[in-house]
Amino acid sequence: MSDFTHGFWPIYISVLTVVSIIGTWVFLRSQTTRKLAPGEKPELMKHTWDGDLQDLNNPLPRWWLGLFYGTLVFAGVYLVLWPGLGNYAGVLGWTSKGEYEAEVEKAEAKFQPVYAGFMQQDIATVAADPDARAIGRNLFLTYCSQCHGSDAAGARGFPNLTDGVWLYGGDPDTIKATLTEGRSGMMPPMGEALGAEGTKEVAHYVLSLSGRQHDAALAEAGRPKFAESCAACHMPDGTGMQAMGAPNLTDKVWLYGGSEAAIIESIAKGRNGVMPGIDQTLGTTSNKEAKLHLLTAYVYGLSQRQ
Ligand code: HEC
Ligand code: HEC
Repeated sequence: MSDFTHGFWPIYISVLTVVSIIGTWVFLRSQTTRKLAPGEKPELMKHTWDGDLQDLNNPLPRWWLGLFYGTLVFAGVYLVLWPGLGNYAGVLGWTSKGEYEAEVEKAEAKFQPVYAGFMQQDIATVAADPDARAIGRNLFLTYCSQCHGSDAAGARGFPNLTDGVWLYGGDPDTIKATLTEGRSGMMPPMGEALGAEGTKEVAHYVLSLSGRQHDAALAEAGRPKFAESCAACHMPDGTGMQAMGAPNLTDKVWLYGGSEAAIIESIAKGRNGVMPGIDQTLGTTSNKEAKLHLLTAYVYGLSQRQ
């Protein structure tokens, strides 16, 4: 695969490289053809620096010249064997991607027996094993941290996995199902159905559920609207429903924020958080089942250790 953005550049680079090497060679030759005749003294050049620093026109030492030609030969051989000249792949066919893949392959093969051992154990046992935790942490950093953070504490829209509060459930089977199939939160937009005033009233009712500062009259007006439009997913008491991934609205944990403005936005525009399934997160890497097992245990362990 070529990384060049335009066909001109590989040619430009190749020509520049070859011309420099040949040019250096020609220049070296041109500077070393003259030898001192037997008995001839080197001439003193005319310039003098720093008071008494003078310059003789001795021929360059042979060992030094040898080294210089050596580097030029090395460059030539290198450029034949390895990629270096534009898009030319080199006789050996080496690529950094190929080297990386070979190393990954080797590492996976090395891990195979380790993985196999953990596959025999249930999630709780694996979660308690320090070695498994170290591997799980590395897997998490590779496959999950871009969304959930390297400490798994999440961010706005990306749930914190360490706090023991779950959208979908924190038992090993549910976590494994989340990681395998992915999840898609479906909070429908309700701004139009409720109207601006109605949305605000329900929002104040939601604020009241977790004891946040709210307007009591607005919240009271929102109560029946909540029962009518929201309870089906968030339950009549607002504690949520894990089968739907509908968050508990009575706790102090917010996926999108617990300010009046954030809640109004959640209600008016809806929310659609997507957790990708294993085919997206782990792609086509090998030992997928084992990695899934170790990641499940790692996530399960995080919430057990708070
Ligand atoms: C592209 C971003 C992204 C990546 C990558 C990602 N997640 Fe998620 N994850 C999310 C989002 C967003 C949610 C919340 C989904 C929702 O709102 O319904 C989520 C939800 C979860 C949940 C459910 C939490 C709960 O409270 O029930 C778990 C567990 C989880 N992720 C673990 C992982 C693990 C382990 C990985 C790595 C294999 C991973 N995630 C990779 C974005 C991501
Ligand atoms: C069809 C089911 C469903 C209905 C009906 C529903 N919700 Fe939701 N709600 C959800 C889901 C699922 C999420 C999580 C979205 C995500 O994961 O991205 C959510 C998220 C929220 C959030 C964000 C919570 C947070 O932690 O940031 C608020 C607030 C909320 N809903 C309030 C309401 C209110 C108020 C109503 C009624 C007007 C309502 N919902 C109706 C399913 C529903």
